Amino acid sequence: MRFDVLTLFPGMFGEILSTSMPGRAAASRIAEYHLHDLRDWTEDNHRTVDDRPFGGGPGMVMLCEPMWNAANAIEALDERPARRVLLTPQGEPLKQDRVEDLASSERLLLIAGHYEGIDERVVERLDPLEISVGDYVLSGGELPAMTLIDAVVRLLPGVLGHADSAAEDSFSTRDEEGRPLLDCPHYTRPREWRGQAVPEILLSGDHGAVARWRREQSVERTRRRRPDLLPAPRPLGDEHRPMSRQPDGGETARGEQSGDGPGVSSS
Ligand SMILES: C[S@@+](CC[C@H](N)C(=O)[O-])C[C@H]1O[C@@H](n2cnc3c(N)ncnc32)[C@H](O)[C@@H]1O
Repeated sequence: MRFDVLTLFPGMFGEILSTSMPGRAAASRIAEYHLHDLRDWTEDNHRTVDDRPFGGGPGMVMLCEPMWNAANAIEALDERPARRVLLTPQGEPLKQDRVEDLASSERLLLIAGHYEGIDERVVERLDPLEISVGDYVLSGGELPAMTLIDAVVRLLPGVLGHADSAAEDSFSTRDEEGRPLLDCPHYTRPREWRGQAVPEILLSGDHGAVARWRREQSVERTRRRRPDLLPAPRPLGDEHRPMSRQPDGGETARGEQSGDGPGVSSS
């Protein structure tokens, strides 16, 4: 899988992409990373990539033209079509489902913003998938891009060994209804540490019992820590109740609360 990253700071990526799973993926040629400095698509002596916002206000806005030229030139470097992904706090919150979806792509073009953000016109024209890594604001899209790369490459076949398979990780493991669960707690030696013993069942050698215990722990943890992942099933016959429209345009059955709960080469 090919990753192209368009950034003002390609130097931020080296250590992350050459270490651990991203590094292993590159070493085994399962993933390739191409870092592109947006300033290489500027045409003035100062290599300007930003300007003051129309309408006034603080901060700078990234220019359309270098971004547009860069995206087109980078995409032409390889015949594989690239899915464009813009990292932005206003995007779809990144979830494991989306990571799995992105991991099935041949190629991603990740665009990291900076300053106040990017001129909206070039965002509209590029029409990328917009992804957020959480409801907080970072200085740039570089850390989100690295987060996304790490999450994606560990799902690529051959990157994780059998021993650290992703299938039992939080959000990949699922209950009978396909709802994501958190992983169970894990223990290793010594059997007793500072007066705290490992749960007896894990020492029993009964693989079936261990699997059941882990499953129960997984469900219980999810209930306690992330009840939003396990919305209560609708009562029997509920599907026949009339629907009422919510202010946000969604629909819920009448009498029901809306919402799910608590809510490396460089160019
Ligand atoms: C300082 S932020 C701009 C924030 C923007 N003015 C806003 O309030 O939506 C600069 C860049 O950092 C990146 N960024 C910041 N927070 C992010 C987040 N939570 N998820 C993904 N990207 C983020 C984006 O690429 C963004 O263009």
